[in-house]
Amino acid sequence: MKALQIIKYGEIKDSLSINEIEKPSLKPNDILVEVKAASLNPIDYKMVEGHLKDMISLNFPSTIGFDVSGVVVERGVAVNNFEIGDEVYSRVPQEQMGTVAEFVSINSDLVAKKPKNSSFEEAAGLPLTGLTAIQALENVGIKENDRVLIHAGSGGVGSFAIQYAKAKGAIVYTTTSSKNVDWVKALGADRVIDYKTEDYKKVANNLDIVFDTLGNDYTFDAFEIIKEGGKVTTIAGPPDEETAKKMGMKDYKLTEKLATLIEKKSAIYKLTWMQPDAKQLNTISSMVEDGDIKPIVDLIYSFENGIDAYLYLATGRAKGKVIISMS
Ligand SMILES: NC(=O)c1ccc[n+]([C@@H]2O[C@H](COP(=O)([O-])OP(=O)(O)OC[C@H]3O[C@@H](n4cnc5c(N)ncnc54)[C@H](OP(=O)(O)O)[C@@H]3O)[C@@H](O)[C@H]2O)c1
Repeated sequence: MKALQIIKYGEIKDSLSINEIEKPSLKPNDILVEVKAASLNPIDYKMVEGHLKDMISLNFPSTIGFDVSGVVVERGVAVNNFEIGDEVYSRVPQEQMGTVAEFVSINSDLVAKKPKNSSFEEAAGLPLTGLTAIQALENVGIKENDRVLIHAGSGGVGSFAIQYAKAKGAIVYTTTSSKNVDWVKALGADRVIDYKTEDYKKVANNLDIVFDTLGNDYTFDAFEIIKEGGKVTTIAGPPDEETAKKMGMKDYKLTEKLATLIEKKSAIYKLTWMQPDAKQLNTISSMVEDGDIKPIVDLIYSFENGIDAYLYLATGRAKGKVIISMS
């Protein structure tokens, strides 16, 4: 079968290659999925560029991609939760990475039926970003009437998070650049802040929650705009100590700067490191079928143009999800 593979660490254009490889084998709990579409995520190209070497070690060549939608074509001997022909989607676990390929084997406990009203391309864009948004917002207990700022509302995670937070009854502020303001408003955000012309810290403050999808100074500045006892939930900033322990960083300590910011506001600070979860995928399917969440697809590339798809995603300007279609 054909697969888009990482052949070395380095620049995207030199480090990815379409190769002919063996179809994956199945463990007893796995299903074999014929891939219809895969979606791309920043973690994919960060791995190619070698930024995650210490956390995720790769054996080259390694097929790229975590998000997939497709059709079940084979079942391991212990699988009884899916039938041949089921239309499914998943964020595959680390050890089964490799969704930008004709087939992928996946532990069936991490798979769900795709939303009935979504195309394969739309469905492929939902797992990683949807699970991330749900876990990051639920980790700080988002609830009705919370005033929430979601950074980068036009990104893969942000565009899902806005819709999820609105479905939970929150009051949503979000940041994006001028060209994206109108369509991000259409996702339901109450106040879209154009970061090219406005200072988000003047518009959104005394917040219950800041969802930091950008990291760097955005993580620290979040503490200026939460209320006393407010919450900062990050997917791009440094770990909190509890999460660091779970990630195997036993001696990790918060920096003095971050510890002081947390203490001064009596704040809750949490890093979410997204975990595959079929139950939450089922929630996403229901929300999409009920019309609470609309999948946001930016561009669809053919498999043959997969490297261009990654080059586009890595510009950091994607509007929703970038998809590779296998058909
Ligand atoms: N911890 C985890 O488990 C986890 C999971 C998923 C993702 N992540 C990380 O979270 C980050 C976001 O992921 P993603 O998939 O949403 O990325 P993405 O789709 O590539 O984000 C692109 C979007 O970011 C917006 N953006 C860039 N700079 C901005 C700024 N200064 N202010 C507001 N918007 C800005 C861009 O809008 P404009 O063109 O309008 O600027 C663009 O629409 C990445 O770093 C990713 O690695 C972490």
